[in-house]
Amino acid sequence: MIDEKRVLTREEFLKKAGKVAAGAVVGGSLLGLVGCSKPAAEPPKNEPPAPAAPPEPPAWPWPYKTLDVNAAAKGGYDGYMVSDCSYGAFHALISELRKEVGFPYDYMPTDMFRFGGGGVAGWSTLCGALIGACAVMQLVVDEKDAAKVINELMGWYTETAFPVFKPEQPKKSDKEIVQSVCGSPLCHVSVTKWCEVSGYKATSAERSERCGRLTADVAKKAAELLNDYHAGKFAAKYVTPASITGCMSCHGKDGMDNTRGKMDCVQCHPTAHK
Ligand code: HEC
Ligand code: HEC
Repeated sequence: MIDEKRVLTREEFLKKAGKVAAGAVVGGSLLGLVGCSKPAAEPPKNEPPAPAAPPEPPAWPWPYKTLDVNAAAKGGYDGYMVSDCSYGAFHALISELRKEVGFPYDYMPTDMFRFGGGGVAGWSTLCGALIGACAVMQLVVDEKDAAKVINELMGWYTETAFPVFKPEQPKKSDKEIVQSVCGSPLCHVSVTKWCEVSGYKATSAERSERCGRLTADVAKKAAELLNDYHAGKFAAKYVTPASITGCMSCHGKDGMDNTRGKMDCVQCHPTAHK
């Protein structure tokens, strides 16, 4: 039970608080008048001048120059070893942009993409390498085209046998790392299908090595797509398979409109309509 006498109403509280604050001001100025307050401190001498404010960032999309796709790949692998897939891909591409363009990329913090590791804090949702790469793509592609270029990376991911990249010096494991196609952009499916094919565990050093190399592949592909796009040579190659558009003809917006998406339906609904 709340003791009603002791509970102030909001109005009473504000009144009291106002008096206290007013008292503090009066007290303070009185002290000032009788000369008891200290004079304001002199600014310290020999202090470096305040740094110049950074220039205004340019309008979105940000400027782009052709990137070295192999440097992006290596950066993706090395970045993975610092803080996983999402940071790896994002940091690699931003680092190449820093080299080629400089401002405003020097001001872009890459640490924020550490969240995406393991498909967002280990949730195994969207592959983190895709999270990092797609963010950079969105930053440098026109609004009207961004989804198209990103769609291409997503589709390519679902059909590619990973990993392709081979580091000069493997950092997690120098065992043979076999390739697998996962048919999904999800970290969970990507990792688990690779575990099935390779026989390695999801927490093994080999799985880490595989995801480091995959991060290189994704960063490289993103750089290739962006180079093509900015050279006016981008052409979408990925086509959503009929197995998915078939389901969507009834479940999509022209039918029952009770789901959305472009992922492989049968991977999760193997028994639908059977
Ligand atoms: C010809 C239209 C049509 C096509 C094509 C179709 N569906 Fe359906 N689907 C339906 C209808 C209608 C229902 C609702 C049935 C109900 O509510 O009893 C349904 C229900 C479902 C359900 C919920 C019930 C269940 O069986 O679990 C799932 C999941 C589903 N569909 C998945 C799919 C997938 C995956 C595909 C593609 C492989 C697909 N559907 C293709 C018409 C279609
Ligand atoms: C990553 C897994 C996954 C993928 C991919 C996926 N679904 Fe689902 N879907 C689910 C889950 C989980 C549910 C909710 C549980 C359930 O109802 O089966 C669901 C529910 C549904 C339902 C409602 C089922 C019901 O009982 O009414 C339909 C219809 C459906 N999905 C269709 C599709 C279609 C069409 C696709 C492909 C475009 C698709 N899903 C892709 C996991 C998935």
